[in-house]
Amino acid sequence: MCGIVGYVGRQPAAPVLVEGLTRLEYRGYDSAGLSVAGPNGQTVVRRVGRVRELEAALPRRLPGTVGIGHTRWATHGPATEANAHPHTSEDGRVAVVHNGIIDNAAALRERLEREGVTFTSDTDTEVLAHLIARSPAGDLEERVLEALDHVVGTYAVAVLDTAAPDRLVVARNGSPLILGVGDKEMFVASDVAALVRHTSSVIHLEDGELAEVTARGYRTFTRETHDTGRVPTTIEVADEDVDLGDHGHYMAKEIAEQPETVARMLRGRLDARFGTARLDGLNLTPRELRAFRRVKILGCGSAYYVGELGALLIEELARIPAHAEAASEFRYRNPIIEPDTLYVAVSQSGETADTAFAVREIKRKGGQVVGLVNVVGSTIARECDGGIYLHAGPEIAVASTKALTHMGVGFALLALLLGRVRDLSVADGQRIIAGLERLPADIAAVLEQEDAVAEVARELAGAESLFFIGRVRGFPVAREGAQKFKEVSYRHAEAYQTSELKHGPLALIEAARPTVAVIPDDELTDRNLAAAEQVMARGGPVVAVTHPGVRLGAVDARRIDVPRNETELDPIVLMVPMQLLALHAARHLGLDIDKPRNLAKSVTVE
Ligand code: F6R
Repeated sequence: MCGIVGYVGRQPAAPVLVEGLTRLEYRGYDSAGLSVAGPNGQTVVRRVGRVRELEAALPRRLPGTVGIGHTRWATHGPATEANAHPHTSEDGRVAVVHNGIIDNAAALRERLEREGVTFTSDTDTEVLAHLIARSPAGDLEERVLEALDHVVGTYAVAVLDTAAPDRLVVARNGSPLILGVGDKEMFVASDVAALVRHTSSVIHLEDGELAEVTARGYRTFTRETHDTGRVPTTIEVADEDVDLGDHGHYMAKEIAEQPETVARMLRGRLDARFGTARLDGLNLTPRELRAFRRVKILGCGSAYYVGELGALLIEELARIPAHAEAASEFRYRNPIIEPDTLYVAVSQSGETADTAFAVREIKRKGGQVVGLVNVVGSTIARECDGGIYLHAGPEIAVASTKALTHMGVGFALLALLLGRVRDLSVADGQRIIAGLERLPADIAAVLEQEDAVAEVARELAGAESLFFIGRVRGFPVAREGAQKFKEVSYRHAEAYQTSELKHGPLALIEAARPTVAVIPDDELTDRNLAAAEQVMARGGPVVAVTHPGVRLGAVDARRIDVPRNETELDPIVLMVPMQLLALHAARHLGLDIDKPRNLAKSVTVE
């Protein structure tokens, strides 16, 4: 999705902006642009395509130490140079970059056109540039405030005005915006990834907050012009966390680092003596935890699928009814919010609009909501009543991998804690803790088989269409397997409950349509094997993602073995070969693994 960067300081702004935009490339975009205020007004350069094309189009000399930049993911109007940001006022004085959607843009445009303004783009953003330039108010700050009074919608904006060339004014409402504090320089970005090379001192602006930013510092204030006096916090993201290192792709890097990141996530959170989890960030006492009679999990896409796994973990370990639902649907059905339900919002980015709206709806109705979120300080993390940070480190590839594994671990910790304040015994708690402690080594053992999995992936990549099947704990694994595969390989991949095959989809089984079957070593192994046999009997090739103890017998399948952990935790390990299958299929097909077509890293609009 769209990305914003801004710079005010002592260095030439253009290289800082280009570097920041490059850091935001992973979010998905189709055009890029920047504007730098120089001695003779501002220079605006925009290009369709990659940031490197924008960089190549910049003039050799581009002096100026104040500027804004943007990567655009088309919403209003196609991906053209005219629609790329920054958008400027008619006199070229005011430039604006904007993330979000201005809901009343059409009405504002009509009004401005009636007043004689000529528009040069199809975007909603351009209205802002004209409103700010035409505002009767005094300085830039006042004019931005006045313009925003006319606007309904979501935004993160950064504004540059050559009449005040030493500053930027920025505002946030529903789209993330962060200030980075340097030494006699200030940075602005919609994502910390664009800041980490320069500073670890940041301020996450709140909705309804603005800031005036100069090389000397910043001032934060509300729409009512009250100073908010925000002080910076320190972020822990290291530069190398967002560097590719020796890996060909971020997706490969992020899959490979899981043993280390999972070990890091567990540090300090396991209480082996009492067989429970330490989750102080939830802000819930044992008494409060005991009082919940239900758990409702909300997330989108892959986060929703891992939420289904979370619901099973909670039912198994805590014996509380738990259910996962797509946040994108939940928010639109006037949901019933119950006081004795614990709501859990799960999100890597913490910025997914559908999930954030669901959180707000729950809170509006007095519900208690905690977050399982990766990005520290993100919107969902801040709006929840408490939570569990996933600590997976930055995830750059659009297709989520390590964050999902961490979500699985987060749900296991939550289930353990909920279980131990109820009827889960110390011994069972300790068994789960031992399993959690083995996870890094088990994941590493799967990664050691990468070459063999890659060979299977190459075969699967040849199929136009595939099934992924699993049941109970294996079904979320199958759903996530299909999701990952289709996302990066563009092959049609459909997940089905193994038990449901015979109720319809079996009709589609044929030699050209392989099935990836999740067959854990558990109480359902025989039934899973019987279903795989049915697939084979109809000529469908099968790949079994299974445990070493499982004897495939009559099922003549390719097999991928993963180490056994505790039955409840097995799905977390079983998801890892699914990630490798998708990665290597896409690699074999020569696709843009980290930036699959049509997709964005965090979906901050509806
Ligand atoms: C799949 C994927 C998406 C996200 C979904 C939610 O690989 O990345 O399905 O899982 O858009 O995103 P977050 O977790 O940021 O809320």
